[in-house]
Amino acid sequence: MKPLIVANWKMNPISRKQAEHLFGSIRKEICGIQNVEVILCPPFIYLDFISKKTSKNIKLGGQNIFWDRQGPYTGEISPQMLKDMGCDYVILGHSERKKNFQETNEFINKKIKASLKSRLKIILCVGEESRNSFNEDGRWTGEVDLILKEQVLQCLEGIDEPQVANIIIAYEPVWAISTVESGCAATPNDALSASLLIRKTMHQKYNEKIARSLRILYGGSVDSKNAVDFMKEDGIDGVLVGGASINSSEFTRLVKAVSGQYLSAEQRNYR
Ligand code: 13P
Repeated sequence: MKPLIVANWKMNPISRKQAEHLFGSIRKEICGIQNVEVILCPPFIYLDFISKKTSKNIKLGGQNIFWDRQGPYTGEISPQMLKDMGCDYVILGHSERKKNFQETNEFINKKIKASLKSRLKIILCVGEESRNSFNEDGRWTGEVDLILKEQVLQCLEGIDEPQVANIIIAYEPVWAISTVESGCAATPNDALSASLLIRKTMHQKYNEKIARSLRILYGGSVDSKNAVDFMKEDGIDGVLVGGASINSSEFTRLVKAVSGQYLSAEQRNYR
């Protein structure tokens, strides 16, 4: 499996002109890179022109959907509409939606089911809010385990085995997101602990094969300097990038850095 880099542009950039420039610069720089999968998730209104110009190695995703196919839901976008716009992926369960729009695991579960029906692949975000979930010596506590386990199980309630292949889980601790006060990246070790716990949960809910083949990303203050460190961990298959994905030179540096790392990971034959 190729490493996966997901760019979550969030509510950026402010104009179509800037979005065209950002996309154009990224495409130009990374169009020849084949050993990394890149998924761009811009705001809905930029998807149309990007989908017309995108290259083979860049896939598109939305940042949210509503759980019904169509109907009286003012302001919402359906999974079918995203698919029709050329998207293969959707980010669900992002902590910014949980905080600002009171999204619960139950809502997220409905959105996952609706997205799967429309044959979208899901990037499901999970993560604890507070760094206090770590012991004083920085070690993982049982509290984090419980939080992550609950999020995974509630969000995947009623999702059966064949469908799980279409789900990627992103461990994105809220405290590590660059825009939260004092946000700074987790350590690769933190990310690995979370990925082990997520795989264990998936093993208990499904089976070993699913737990092993699940793709797990790390998100939270990822940039061109630290992305490779996360990818060196055997349990982390890619990164979910916010701030660094809306700076074209920083993002292309990141993609190129991971592309270089992948060759050595492949040589190590770590899966
Ligand atoms: P940053 O990379 O800016 O920390 O954002 C992470 C994020 O929220 C991606 O979904």
